[in-house]
Amino acid sequence: MQFTSTMTGLPSPSPLQFAFSSKSSAHASRRGGRPMQPEHQQWLAWWQQPSQATERALYLHIPFCTKRCSFCNFFENGANPRRIERYVTALCEELERAADTPLAQSRPFEAVYLGGGTPTDMTAEQLALVLAAVRRFPLAADAEVTLEGRLHGFDDEKWQAALAGGVNRLSFGVQSFDSKVRLAAGRIDDRDTVMSRLQTLGRRNQAVVVADLIFGLPWQSHEVWQQDLSDLLECDIHGVDLYQLIALPGNNLERFQASGRQPDGLPSHERALMYAAGADRLERAGWQRLSCSHWRRSEDERSRYNQLAKGSAEILPFGAGAGGKVHQFALMNGRDLAGWHAALEKQERVPGMVIASAPHAAKEGAVRHAMDCGVLPYSLLPSDQRALLMALFAIWQQHGLAECGQDALTLTLAGRFWTVNLQAGLFECLDAHREAPVGHPGREGLAHPGVGR
Ligand SMILES: C[S@@+](CC[C@H](N)C(=O)[O-])C[C@H]1O[C@@H](n2cnc3c(N)ncnc32)[C@H](O)[C@@H]1O
Ligand code: SF4
Repeated sequence: MQFTSTMTGLPSPSPLQFAFSSKSSAHASRRGGRPMQPEHQQWLAWWQQPSQATERALYLHIPFCTKRCSFCNFFENGANPRRIERYVTALCEELERAADTPLAQSRPFEAVYLGGGTPTDMTAEQLALVLAAVRRFPLAADAEVTLEGRLHGFDDEKWQAALAGGVNRLSFGVQSFDSKVRLAAGRIDDRDTVMSRLQTLGRRNQAVVVADLIFGLPWQSHEVWQQDLSDLLECDIHGVDLYQLIALPGNNLERFQASGRQPDGLPSHERALMYAAGADRLERAGWQRLSCSHWRRSEDERSRYNQLAKGSAEILPFGAGAGGKVHQFALMNGRDLAGWHAALEKQERVPGMVIASAPHAAKEGAVRHAMDCGVLPYSLLPSDQRALLMALFAIWQQHGLAECGQDALTLTLAGRFWTVNLQAGLFECLDAHREAPVGHPGREGLAHPGVGR
């Protein structure tokens, strides 16, 4: 079979910088599956069936933000107090109804994630209400309960309400500590304000505190990035995600750059060096890498929800814009608030997509998750395609992206930077092989894998 360069990456003396031209997308997405529209009765029946999943979680979406950040495509609705109030009331009612069903009660949940948007924009009272509704579900004794959001406006009243309600992990978007980078990105607080609040919360040690940093933002030079990493290390928090900026169409950053109001951030081959610098600084400071983009300073940080979401766990989604999986069906609730409220008032399924999972979805989830962690045991590969994939891995090894061990493939630093492209390449290769008819040269050329351009 002829491998393409999107499967293998390009040969280069610096694979970290040049194996691919850019990151293909934010995440390797689920593939295949059949869109469907379940009848109301079928939908109700799903909630009466006990779960068969071995691992499960709850996801609650809070689609409001005080301000739209330049780089972000997750902004959905402004944080209007009356709108949030109405949403929280409807969400709590939905959670309470769902919590009483056989589906919800049949097995414990190992993780809960309140994501957004900006869940920390809820008031302390609203947080308490939502968390009380969450506690009606059977949570595992050591369940991880994460509240996502930002430090701006997250005062001690909210902190206490979160802890009292069972939150044991907080994930704050910091993006950069640098005041100039922050201002350009539409963040509200300056460096000193963000750093001192993060430090205070981290040092309390009452809950796991993790932060997101982005590299590649406008005005974020290598020097600024090094300072971002120094500031992070000073904050004494428990974990961090380092995300490369993904340029997605339609956000403010695209408009600012198109009109010349903001410069481009550093290009992909420079961002690769920023990733390497981040990994190096964290690992030399004794932080442990849990995935290609996530490190922890303390073993209290488990990142359980993220692991479950990247694999094939059942995830019950609640809220407009929430996504998850119930039984073998992937669900993506529509983002439109009016449609969501109208459906809940009639106690109908909220508008959105339902996809019946492809037969290979669970196995692919395990492969994606392993690649995200940087080590892919060969035992996870489909046996009928193992020879094909070993040929692909041999090229990744030649290109400096991975090492083929006895029992597993281990991504190099370059491979970890390009993990999303490698995952996309692996699945592209499997698809091309599935489509190649028997007797087609594609199935016979395995002994001499070539790189197409
Ligand atoms: C759903 S957002 C919620 C963050 C939170 N509302 C905040 O203001 O920090 C989660 C994370 O996605 C990341 N993110 C958003 N847009 C991104 C982009 N274009 N490229 C890379 N990471 C991005 C940010 O690091 C952000 O913290
Ligand atoms: S980064 Fe957070 S606050 Fe900013 S627009 Fe995205 S979700 Fe909203």
